[in-house]
Amino acid sequence: MTTETTPAAPRTRALGAVLPALCCTLCYQPLDLSPQGARCPNNHSFDLAREGYLNLLPGHVIPQNADTPQMLTARAAFLGAGHFDPLLQALAAQALAAFPAPPAAPLLADLGAGPGHYLAYLLDRLPGWSGLALDISKHAARKAARAHPRIASLVCDCNDHLPLADACASLALCVFAPRNPQEFHRILAPGGLLLVATPSPRHLHQLLAPIGMLAMDPDKDQRLALRLGTHFALAHQHPVEATLALDTADLVNLISMGPSAFHLSPEDIAQRVEALPRPFTVTASFNVTVWRPLEVPLLVGAAGEDDAP
Ligand SMILES: C[S@@+](CC[C@H](N)C(=O)[O-])C[C@H]1O[C@@H](n2cnc3c(N)ncnc32)[C@H](O)[C@@H]1O
Ligand SMILES: [Zn+2]
Repeated sequence: MTTETTPAAPRTRALGAVLPALCCTLCYQPLDLSPQGARCPNNHSFDLAREGYLNLLPGHVIPQNADTPQMLTARAAFLGAGHFDPLLQALAAQALAAFPAPPAAPLLADLGAGPGHYLAYLLDRLPGWSGLALDISKHAARKAARAHPRIASLVCDCNDHLPLADACASLALCVFAPRNPQEFHRILAPGGLLLVATPSPRHLHQLLAPIGMLAMDPDKDQRLALRLGTHFALAHQHPVEATLALDTADLVNLISMGPSAFHLSPEDIAQRVEALPRPFTVTASFNVTVWRPLEVPLLVGAAGEDDAP
């Protein structure tokens, strides 16, 4: 979806541009790159995949909640059809309002980036910035590595210590993905911002009963504020809503790209979609929030586990 048309970049070009921001997942020392991968001064080594992403997940970690190839294909098709463009535009408007010119640390880190759709769109509008896509799914990392020439793509666990240097990024983006307030705060440079997108309780409400999708918690915004509030102050919030008229393929992709795909088989999804009138009208409803890091974080420990999206 990017409009940039640079020739195929060597696998390491985007990674090389962000190298000073990367660190070892095991000892947090800086990383050095070679065509095979990355290595820290303590000799911990990480593979660079043929598809261009760097796998920083330690060998003993078994990824949990990683998006599957089927979910990613459905997500790429649904987002590529433009159905959530109002959300893209709202995120870009916030980023551009905050940074009309590149800051001293022009790095945008997308935490739980999936296929890199939002990151690529923002980078197209933020010339001079580099992008980092972080995701626990290597299938997502593979897609993100190809989504934009300025995206460096990493596999890592965003609920853990991030493999990123302190104060390396001016923007952190978290769209329907797990939030780690302490680490998001640590990686943000002075003057940095966190942009978060969450579904509102009205999101896709027409599909809940007929498809058996999980309902959104009506107290989600309060719990988000409680959790992020240990390290961030809410600067703005923007509701984003759109009415979508969806055909069969859109409906199947929409259901298959989200958490429902963890408990519904493709046959279940096809059967339930078949029973709906077409086109089927659904409400896409999001909350975009902009957060400023607190100078002094509050005591950690009371906010409990995250429950993305
Ligand atoms: C609902 S998808 C959103 C993806 C992307 N932000 C988007 O909106 O297209 C959630 C993403 O978070 C990733 N994820 C889940 N747990 C994670 C973790 N602990 N660390 C990093 N990524 C994680 C999943 O693999 C998935 O790509
Ligand atoms: Zn190391």
